[in-house]
Amino acid sequence: MPLLAARGLQLSLPDRSAQPLFRRAPLTPILRGIDLELEPGESLGIVGESGSGKTSLGRTLLRLYEPTAGALSFEGRDITHLPEAAIRPLREGMQFIFQDPLSSLNPRQRIEDILAQPLLAFGRVASRQEGRVRARALLERVHLPAAFATRYPHELSGGQRQRVGIARAIALKPRVIVADEIVSGLDVSTQAQILVLLRELKREDALIFISHDLSVVRVLCDRVMVLRQGAVVEQGPCAQIFADPKHPYTRALLEAIPLPDVDPGWVAA
Ligand SMILES: Nc1ncnc2c1ncn2[C@@H]1O[C@H](COP(=O)(O)OP(=O)(O)O)[C@@H](O)[C@H]1O
Ligand SMILES: [Mg+2]
Repeated sequence: MPLLAARGLQLSLPDRSAQPLFRRAPLTPILRGIDLELEPGESLGIVGESGSGKTSLGRTLLRLYEPTAGALSFEGRDITHLPEAAIRPLREGMQFIFQDPLSSLNPRQRIEDILAQPLLAFGRVASRQEGRVRARALLERVHLPAAFATRYPHELSGGQRQRVGIARAIALKPRVIVADEIVSGLDVSTQAQILVLLRELKREDALIFISHDLSVVRVLCDRVMVLRQGAVVEQGPCAQIFADPKHPYTRALLEAIPLPDVDPGWVAA
C-alpha cells in the first residue's frame, strides 16, 4: 500500500492578480490533475521552473491546502476533504520543512524549546524539561553541538538553521517529509552537507524533495516528477529521466542547470 497517493489531484485558489472590489476573486487553477504514489522509504524529487506549482503540490499533499478535485490518501486513508480537526492527529506523521527557516522558526524561542514544542504538542514528552533533553538528542542527529540548544535562531548560520528545521521535522518520526527548496540560497558546500544529512535520514522516512535545481535532486532522489504549469510533464526513476529525458521541457531544464559543479561523490558516503 502506498504511503501517500494522489489521483487526479486538482487545486484552484483565488486569483491574486484579479482584485474585484465587491466580489470574491475568481478561482484560478494551480494544479491540473496530478497522479502520484509514494512508497514508504522512497524519495521523490519534484522539479520545475518557478511558478510551476511545486510548493502548492507539496502543501496539498500534506493537506495544508484542501484539494479542489481528485483524491488524496495517506496510509490508505482518504484525507481529500477531511476536516482540520480530523487531520490534526495525522499531522505528526506528515511534516513540512520550509524554504526559509528564519521565518518558520520562532525568533523568540531557544532552539531547545523550538524542538521540544512538537513533542509536547503531540504528548510525546511529559514535560518541557523532558522535551529539552530530547532536543539535545535531536541536535546530535543533525550534527549540531548540544550547546546550540540555548541559542536563538538568529544566532545560527543559514545552514545551521536549516538543520534545526530538519531536526524539528524528524522529532515526531514522521512517515513523510516534504522539504521545499531547503538548500536554495545556501552556498554549495553547505548544500552538500545538508544533502548528506538528508541521505542519512531518508532511509527511515519517505521524502518529497522540492527543488528547481535538478542537480540536487539527482544526488538525493529515487524518482523525479517534472511539473509545468501545474501538470506532470514526465515522471520516472531519476537515472532514467536524467539519462534519457523524453520531454523537451525536461531537456530544457537539464540544459538550463549547470551540472559540472556537482560531484555525485559528494553524497556517496
Ligand atoms: N496562495 C495563492 N493564491 C493564489 N495563487 C497562488 C497562491 N500560491 C501560489 N499561487 C500561484 O500558483 C502558481 C504556482 O505557485 P507555486 O506553487 O508557489 O510554484 P513553485 O513553488 O513551483 O514556484 C503560481 O502561478 C502562483 O502565482
Ligand atoms: Mg515554491
